[in-house]
Amino acid sequence: MNKIVFIGYMGSGKTTIAQLLSQKLNLHFEDLDQIIENEEKLTVKSIFETKGEVYFRKLEHKTLKNFIETKENFILSLGGGTPCYSNNMNLLKEKGCVTIYLMASLEELYGRLTLLSNKNQRPLIANLKRDEIKEFIAKQLFERSFFYNQANVIIKVDKKSIEEIIQEIEELLI
Ligand code: S3P
Repeated sequence: MNKIVFIGYMGSGKTTIAQLLSQKLNLHFEDLDQIIENEEKLTVKSIFETKGEVYFRKLEHKTLKNFIETKENFILSLGGGTPCYSNNMNLLKEKGCVTIYLMASLEELYGRLTLLSNKNQRPLIANLKRDEIKEFIAKQLFERSFFYNQANVIIKVDKKSIEEIIQEIEELLI
């Protein structure tokens, strides 16, 4: 049984790394936000805007639970907030998932998330001014690190290439 789950803050590279690793390991890849968008036929951003964050968090939990209870061999990337709500981190542990936290520093995340293309599609920061974003990320990282740090594997990603990160993960998973 291979249940590999990527966690980490928005912009840490979860989807990109998870997708590439799945090709190398020949494992099925899914992205939780993508599953939610396909099922709801709405983008995550519109779900936040029209139905609110609480609705999204409940849906996120239900979708995650259903996925890990029904699938066997996969690599799944989660949304940045997923491990921090609805007891999801414990659920992942109970179901035998191997969790990998892509740990990026505040500076690195700020740099990545203030790029316009990244900022606009993310509902939590889309309406923040540039100078508000850093404080927002810092506060959330402080609160969320408690959950992220429970991961089985922690990979620091600052200033590393995608290839270096993948190689590091492969070595740790062997
Ligand atoms: C969120 C992160 C997003 C998405 C939603 C909420 C968060 O996923 O699930 O906008 O709470 O950090 P990414 O981490 O893939 O951007």
